[in-house]
Amino acid sequence: MTEDQSWAPADVDPERPNAARMYDYFLGGGANFAADREYARKIIELAPEVRTAARLNRAFLRRSVEYCLDNGVRQFLDIGSGIPTAGNVHEIAAQRTGEAHVVYVDHEAVAVTTAERLLAAEPNARVVRADLRDPETILRSDATRALLDLDRPVALLMVAVLHFIPDSPELDRAIRHYLDALAPGSVVVVSHATTEGDPDRLDKAAELYRNSSTPFIQRSAAEITAFLDGTEIVDPGLVWTPQWRPYAPADVPEHPEESRFYACVGRKP
Ligand SMILES: C[S@@+](CC[C@H](N)C(=O)[O-])C[C@H]1O[C@@H](n2cnc3c(N)ncnc32)[C@H](O)[C@@H]1O
Repeated sequence: MTEDQSWAPADVDPERPNAARMYDYFLGGGANFAADREYARKIIELAPEVRTAARLNRAFLRRSVEYCLDNGVRQFLDIGSGIPTAGNVHEIAAQRTGEAHVVYVDHEAVAVTTAERLLAAEPNARVVRADLRDPETILRSDATRALLDLDRPVALLMVAVLHFIPDSPELDRAIRHYLDALAPGSVVVVSHATTEGDPDRLDKAAELYRNSSTPFIQRSAAEITAFLDGTEIVDPGLVWTPQWRPYAPADVPEHPEESRFYACVGRKP
């Protein structure tokens, strides 16, 4: 039986596996196509922990958003926000405060159309389709202008997205642009796949991603920390995602490196 792909946005090629939709599959979501699932299963075969890694990353995202809220940051710019799944930023924030404003950004059509549908009745959350390397479009978008006051602290979330973006002057320039645009007290949240831990296995998974529509670039601890240059790294520094401010010590798995992603949060002085 062929899959019903009629819901796919017009500019999506359902035959071409894509990171946003594979991640959705790893997390148990339904916004993915047969080609995404087939590819995701190949990655799971090589690195079975990838689903746990996705879940641990998502849990880190939650704790980092709670950290921001606890520190008075009520505005979020979530770039590479992905296909909405359980525990989106505006939902996490709504559990603590009715005042949070969220701008989601993704360059992938399924992620954006699914988010638009989810957010239709949300006055304080919107989605923008743009590339992370295009800060002008993102910061000048109607959604950002309407929802974010850049004179006040903003949490810039780049969670599990930078490893899909190869090194380039545009990437460096974009990161600097965001850092310059953010008010003092703003927070930068990053999680990122790394070469450290078990590089051989990840290399094989990265090789597979190279044949999808999305590359996959593992970076070292130093390279990941460099994305937060100009901020003061908050405790506990750069650690595996489950080690970043766990609710309880027992929440940290015996092998936190199996999360495959480093987490790091910085505050702009
Ligand atoms: C693995 S998902 C992460 C979703 C969410 N941030 C999380 O951690 O649960 C990565 C997302 O980044 C998006 N992405 C990749 N490269 C991007 C780029 N250059 N600009 C904007 N979004 C990008 C993908 O489309 C995908 O939805």
